[in-house]
Amino acid sequence: TLAFLNNQYLPLSEAKISPMDRGFLFGDGIYEVIPSFDGRIVGFSAHMQRMENGLRALEIDNPYDRDGWKSIMQALLERNNQELGDSVGVYLHISRGMQLTRSHGYSEDLTPTVFAFAFKIPPSHSSQPEKVQGLSVSLAKDLRWQRCHIKSTSLLGNVLHFQEAKRGGKHESILFNSQKEITEATTSNVFIVEQGIVRTPPLDNQLLPGITRKLVIESLINENIQVEEVVITAERLLNADEVWLTSSSKEIAPVISVDGNQVGNGEPGPVWRKALLAYDLYKF
Ligand code: PDD
Repeated sequence: TLAFLNNQYLPLSEAKISPMDRGFLFGDGIYEVIPSFDGRIVGFSAHMQRMENGLRALEIDNPYDRDGWKSIMQALLERNNQELGDSVGVYLHISRGMQLTRSHGYSEDLTPTVFAFAFKIPPSHSSQPEKVQGLSVSLAKDLRWQRCHIKSTSLLGNVLHFQEAKRGGKHESILFNSQKEITEATTSNVFIVEQGIVRTPPLDNQLLPGITRKLVIESLINENIQVEEVVITAERLLNADEVWLTSSSKEIAPVISVDGNQVGNGEPGPVWRKALLAYDLYKF
């Protein structure tokens, strides 16, 4: 596939950066993953807003305005369309840039490194909800840092949690804090359904403000399905009628087993189906 690196389009296999890039040495950067279907981008302005917030938090200059980012994304979608098909994610990455001394402290005048590439994502669930397989997830104490609201490329905490789940034969791991309250999963946000009411943990420093999460909440409100942002304990999650995970690559994915405990009747639930349709109507 064709990728983008520092103002240049080139084959992904030929993209190279300096080992002194602070993204490589320190994970010092911000990223986004943005989904698209048939060339239509989902949640573009919301993704841009979160990226701008992240760059500001890290004091990295935004190298492009929103139109600049949009044209990079559109070029990657168009030029890779033959190879990737109609369900495509775009990865955007801005690291602080190369610094020829290794120091935790950063120079203020570095040129950010910009990297982007496109990749296949699964087709939208909404085309065939009856074919969707529910996910099995583990439940684990959240051992990541206290700035999980920043979409940082420093993902070692998430990587270790995810790998542990994978080793246990699970698709994902749902995390809880020291108060046994659910934060999020390692690559997605968490929703539960209790007696028809949809609930998800409120935003704070313990979780990423997922764009899918935001669009799902808005689309549920649009369809008059009750949704609340409230603290959810691990115990409450284990007793919920439905559990879902949301992310740019998963959309809304039903969970059928948490830590070996069956969720509901062990099948994707009725509110999930409604939510999927509501989201599909709303997402563009
Ligand atoms: N993951 N929480 C975490 C820790 C995530 O990494 C992600 C996204 C989300 C969901 O955010 P959104 O709805 O904006 O995709 C929540 C991306 C897809 C990834 O790292 O590949």
